[in-house]
Amino acid sequence: MITLGIESSCDETAASVVRDGGVVLSSVVSSQYDLHAEYAGVVPEIASRAHVERLLPVVREALAQAGVGLGMIDAVAVGHRPGLIGCLLVGVSGAKALALSLGKPLIGVDHVHAHLYSGVLDAEEAVAFPALGLVVSGGHTAMFRLDSWERVTRLGGTIDDAIGEAYDKVATVLGLPHPGGPNLDRLARSEGADERAFDLPVSRMGADSLDLSFSGLKTSVLYAVRGVPNARDPEKMAQPMTDKRRADIAASFQRAACRAIVVKLGRAMEVGAGVRTLLVGGGVSANSRLREELGTFAAARGLRLVIPPLGYCMDNAAMIAGLGATLLKAGRASGMGLQAEPTTSL
Ligand code: KG4
Ligand code: ZN
Repeated sequence: MITLGIESSCDETAASVVRDGGVVLSSVVSSQYDLHAEYAGVVPEIASRAHVERLLPVVREALAQAGVGLGMIDAVAVGHRPGLIGCLLVGVSGAKALALSLGKPLIGVDHVHAHLYSGVLDAEEAVAFPALGLVVSGGHTAMFRLDSWERVTRLGGTIDDAIGEAYDKVATVLGLPHPGGPNLDRLARSEGADERAFDLPVSRMGADSLDLSFSGLKTSVLYAVRGVPNARDPEKMAQPMTDKRRADIAASFQRAACRAIVVKLGRAMEVGAGVRTLLVGGGVSANSRLREELGTFAAARGLRLVIPPLGYCMDNAAMIAGLGATLLKAGRASGMGLQAEPTTSL
């Protein structure tokens, strides 16, 4: 079965052709970094307009790279939630038009759910359930229990910033260029960066809580850089920023942010009976430190870690096509009533 996937929830216009829910024949992503760089964040209206211009060229490119004509498509899958509503509408409208004109089924896919699926793409083994799922992205940070690809239960998640948002804001405070996350990762791993130089908070919430919080950590970095407002203690006042201090702050932040995730995964394992697999996805799953820590975490508990290769960590349409095909097989076609929605269903 050949599925065309479309993704337009934020600042990437993407299309992909996937065979049998897992073999990626093409994955084309047109990123809008250049359009949003001067604002240090995504401007929704600019993003929506760019999707309108780019959607069809990106779909054509995905078909061409896969060597597949429109007539060979068996189904059209689209990320229809969550995301920026104007952006989602572009992808959903395009997918509906294609599905209707081809007379093929349309499947709406939840973007957060699809991130959990991204490690399955091009993988050799099927996922053993039950699985513990972790999505770490610019818009979402949450843990799930999956008993199958359709039975997903949210265990907990951030009550304020997503981890990727914290990475991006901290990068801005440190004067690093957009996109902040990868640049901050690189600086934190640079020669001589001391991750113990700053004792930044790891939010644990209540004793049994599976929720996360990153806003306190973000504020601590802001104070380390600009000084604590109205501080009398000279140590807490703004210090001159040097390259060494910048790298130390980045490394200390990265350590605390990754720690927060691993602490909560540990708690989730305590309550999750019989979990066999750790599924991870989302842009921050590209983070070098988090990948290492998750590898250690999974090995220590006998879990199989299913984490995407770097090319499928960030937003892409292959994960949409892959999960779409799996949901279609389970009888979950959406029909033309499919709506774009700003929030996740998970
Ligand atoms: O999944 P994604 O492409 O978009 C959302 O669904 O939100 O994730 C984008 C996020 C951004 O915040 C970006 O800075 C972050 O992923 N990111 C990273 C790294 N690569 C991407 N954060 C930390 N370290 C990285 N290496
Ligand atoms: Zn995403």
